[in-house]
Amino acid sequence: MGPLDIFEQRKSVRAFLQGPPQREDVMKMVDAARLAPTGKNAQNWHIAYTEKTALIHQAAECILMKSRAIQGSLEEGNEKESLKKIEPYSIFFREAPALVFFYYGPYRITGLEALKLAGRPEEAATLKNSGPGIQGAAAAMENFLLCAARLGYGTCWMTAPLFAAKELEELVGLGLDGFHLMALTPLGRPRGIINTRPLRKPREEMFTAIS
Ligand SMILES: Cc1cc2nc3c(=O)[nH]c(=O)nc-3n(C[C@H](O)[C@H](O)[C@H](O)COP(=O)(O)O)c2cc1C
Repeated sequence: MGPLDIFEQRKSVRAFLQGPPQREDVMKMVDAARLAPTGKNAQNWHIAYTEKTALIHQAAECILMKSRAIQGSLEEGNEKESLKKIEPYSIFFREAPALVFFYYGPYRITGLEALKLAGRPEEAATLKNSGPGIQGAAAAMENFLLCAARLGYGTCWMTAPLFAAKELEELVGLGLDGFHLMALTPLGRPRGIINTRPLRKPREEMFTAIS
């Protein structure tokens, strides 16, 4: 296996075969997530997993209902149209055999209080905006998705539905203080041909060697 193979294997999958993932495979994905780096090894993440069709349908329904309600409060125009356009990209997980909710939890940024006390609000804001708490949880999610791809499963990192995060959090009812939904992904065997990967920027555009 070449060093890039696993990254090539992962593609966003938006159509799935029926049949739940093997539980031992899911546990491998969870273990992959556990191996992710986090600031101070805080591991401030949590994964909620369901194969319950009713819950998956309810999640899609609450996203759709909220999207329609917001659309209903907008005049015809580009903004309303853009909400409508994103709809399919927010609810396609409806037909997936499993759905995974990634949460990020509380993370204390070392030095933040010191910066505030020292009268350095700008530096404090810059440090906070780098989002170290969410970066760790995102690393865990990427590990999960890469492991899923390696095991032949399809996933798709999803944040578009998060305008309905409050409703989704209520639906899942995780009950962990200070934990918030970061993203979701469907999980299942891909159906049909996996769409070709969208083009990537050339290396020169995203890499600077400083000499
Ligand atoms: C933070 C983030 C949020 C995303 N949100 C969505 C989403 O809500 N719906 C969706 O269909 N795809 C979503 N995607 C998938 C991207 O569209 C996809 O990763 C990108 O087009 C590159 O394609 P690839 O994943 O197949 O390489 C998201 C990806 C990331 C990393």
